[in-house]
Amino acid sequence: MALPVIDPKMRVIVALDVDSAHEARRIVAELAGHVGAFKVGLQLFTVAGPEFVRELTADGHRVFLDLKFHDIPNTVVNAAVEAAKLDVWMLNVHASGGGEMMRETVRRVEAHCSSTRSTRPLIIAVTVLTSSDDDTLGEIGIETDAETQVVRLARLAADCGLDGVVASAQEAVAIRKAVGRDGFIIVTPGVRPAFATRDDQRRVTSVREAFDNGADLLVIGRPIIRAVSMADAVSEILHEAAKADQ
Ligand code: C5P
Repeated sequence: MALPVIDPKMRVIVALDVDSAHEARRIVAELAGHVGAFKVGLQLFTVAGPEFVRELTADGHRVFLDLKFHDIPNTVVNAAVEAAKLDVWMLNVHASGGGEMMRETVRRVEAHCSSTRSTRPLIIAVTVLTSSDDDTLGEIGIETDAETQVVRLARLAADCGLDGVVASAQEAVAIRKAVGRDGFIIVTPGVRPAFATRDDQRRVTSVREAFDNGADLLVIGRPIIRAVSMADAVSEILHEAAKADQ
């Protein structure tokens, strides 16, 4: 693990993949204090916008703004600076946007935060989506296997000064081996606790496997937000995580 030892619940990020601020507030109210952060992704951001992100951060919640920026360097840099102004804890870009885009994003967000004396958000890079496999990569003309592509993009992100990557836990071991930097964070979605279904995720891992492989933070959506009791689902996940430490 690259992060210092922290309370296991702080390593769980809940994906607020819902269609209204009202629904998201219900999840946050039930889970605040039980998990480390809430993730606002494309669906919720499109419907509820930056106002809702501001509401969460103003209430003291840690927010991972998962908008996966992927555009020309200037556009990504400006979007990332706007995200930093929302006081988010973490944001992300697509590593496949290239080195210049990632380097400039870190540099300009850092400059903005030091001029406003605010805390710089963690900036991480998406390597290969966990819903993609070798066939999906082949469709878009990438002939290497998913793991090789993930490692290549993780190395590039680390060289560009990013704080970490989003990747399947199946690739976490290879990423740790390739990126020696202390504190490089691996955030893993596509985690499926024993009680849950796979949904559309392909490169899935169990909670135990994710931590054993060296993941720092887990992003979990449907297994928690569709549970009859969200708090019970989180407890079950923490129980599985505790087994990983034994
Ligand atoms: O519901 P589920 O646990 O599959 O949700 C996973 C979350 O992580 C979703 O919000 C998805 O957008 C996000 N994500 C992912 N794969 C990535 C990056 C983010 O599944 N590589």
